[in-house]
Amino acid sequence: MTESASRKILAANWKMHGSKAMLGAYVARLKPVEAVELVLFPPVGYLGLAAELIGKMAPFVALGAQDTHERETGAFTGETSAAMIADLGGRYVIVGHSERRRYAHESDERIAEKAVAAFRAGLQPVVCVGETLEERTAGMAQTVVKRQLEAVAKALPSADYARLIVAYEPVWAIGTGRSATSAQVEEMHAFIRQARESALGSRTLSTVLYGGSVSENSAPGFFNLGSVDGALVGGAALDAERFVRIAELLRTAKC
Ligand code: PGA
Repeated sequence: MTESASRKILAANWKMHGSKAMLGAYVARLKPVEAVELVLFPPVGYLGLAAELIGKMAPFVALGAQDTHERETGAFTGETSAAMIADLGGRYVIVGHSERRRYAHESDERIAEKAVAAFRAGLQPVVCVGETLEERTAGMAQTVVKRQLEAVAKALPSADYARLIVAYEPVWAIGTGRSATSAQVEEMHAFIRQARESALGSRTLSTVLYGGSVSENSAPGFFNLGSVDGALVGGAALDAERFVRIAELLRTAKC
């Protein structure tokens, strides 16, 4: 039986925001939050500096990149490999964020190759899945998420698939201030767990995060659901104090 323990994770996806000055001020305001792993995803160009700044806080703050290339090395101008992310001090990498799916036209198969590359380099991939508003309205939300998960399941050895962190991020909830309802999240997280268990043929306790307009106000509703292990936060995580406050809400939540 393949099992991996789920854990509480609060991740800050900075997207294309930040500066050296902002990073310094941000790290200085971070505080350890018991039993919650804080993971920062600054733009990849700031990763090395972030690793230096985090220094002694490394046991409770981890770093990651927002994307990776699927190949180890080669003539791919502008790209960063998973091994380079690890070399810069990253331990995590987001793959398949909806902004990459949309603006960089990344397919399910390519995203799966990126997850493979991440494990090969010793990184923990966080694979984002989620439906658009049109897909939800058409009653296709679960079909889309299933397709996105299946591509990754097909590409990864089952031991890695069991360790994968999945972030459910409905596209219509990202950066819109309109988060999903607790019922929608509960339903999709249960679906994700069940889809993974049936692909693995075994019980898995792996981590499933929610993302999409998470704030101090919306977070408790998600964190008190048994199926939510944490969140991937964009806008609200650009402010270190808000990020720590949301992490405190995760610490005290039932999940
Ligand atoms: P948001 O972004 O919190 O600003 O909606 C979340 C994400 O894109 O990961």
